[in-house]
Amino acid sequence: MIVTHALAAVAAGAVLTFQSWGYMVPHKNPLDSLVLINKVYRAPNAPIALRLPDVEPVEETIRGNTYMVPKAAQALEEMFAEAASQGIHFYTRSGYRSYQTQKTIYERRDREGRYSSVAKAGYSEHQSGYAMDVEGQSTLGKGLVEAIGSSPEGIWLAEHCHEFGFILRYPKDKQSITGYIYEPWHIRYVGRENAARIHEQDVTLEEYLTKLRRDRIASLEVDKEQ
Ligand code: DAL
Ligand code: ZN
Repeated sequence: MIVTHALAAVAAGAVLTFQSWGYMVPHKNPLDSLVLINKVYRAPNAPIALRLPDVEPVEETIRGNTYMVPKAAQALEEMFAEAASQGIHFYTRSGYRSYQTQKTIYERRDREGRYSSVAKAGYSEHQSGYAMDVEGQSTLGKGLVEAIGSSPEGIWLAEHCHEFGFILRYPKDKQSITGYIYEPWHIRYVGRENAARIHEQDVTLEEYLTKLRRDRIASLEVDKEQ
């Protein structure tokens, strides 16, 4: 399936108060798995190839909401299979979202007053096809709740998702950097090497990209001196 993003949303209107954002630049290629999408940087407005991961959704009726970029879908299948072999069972709830879908979700949450857990249309990682909201067997039926984080599945995810190329994109107590509350269910594909480094450094994607940029500048300075 190829999806073309709807035309631009209204400008972010976000105030740049998040501590590390002043040092960052978004990753150049909007279709790269390191692309930065947050309250300041928009989701890529480009056609994206997607496929359905062959895993179980929370309910069969929402399978169509669980598309991902093929390499992320593959990694998700491998991760769910490995977890299942260890007695840990995951289900998918929400993967790729179009601009329009994100708009609908945001407007619904806005009415409910739950601003800090949903991105405005145009600014959601779910629009990239690299994100998935997952639930585990022990909290099934409760929806996307913080209790997922302390469930056996949430603990497994935090410990192992990097081995498959995923990160927990919105860790606890990092709202001042990511802009979002703790979301132990939201995983983001960044590839195995990056995920391993992010896990090891115990940083957010914002901090990781800031460091990459600083390291790059430092290496250019060294080159100049030689
Ligand atoms: N829940 C995340 C922030 C989103 O809506 O993209
Ligand atoms: Zn999510």
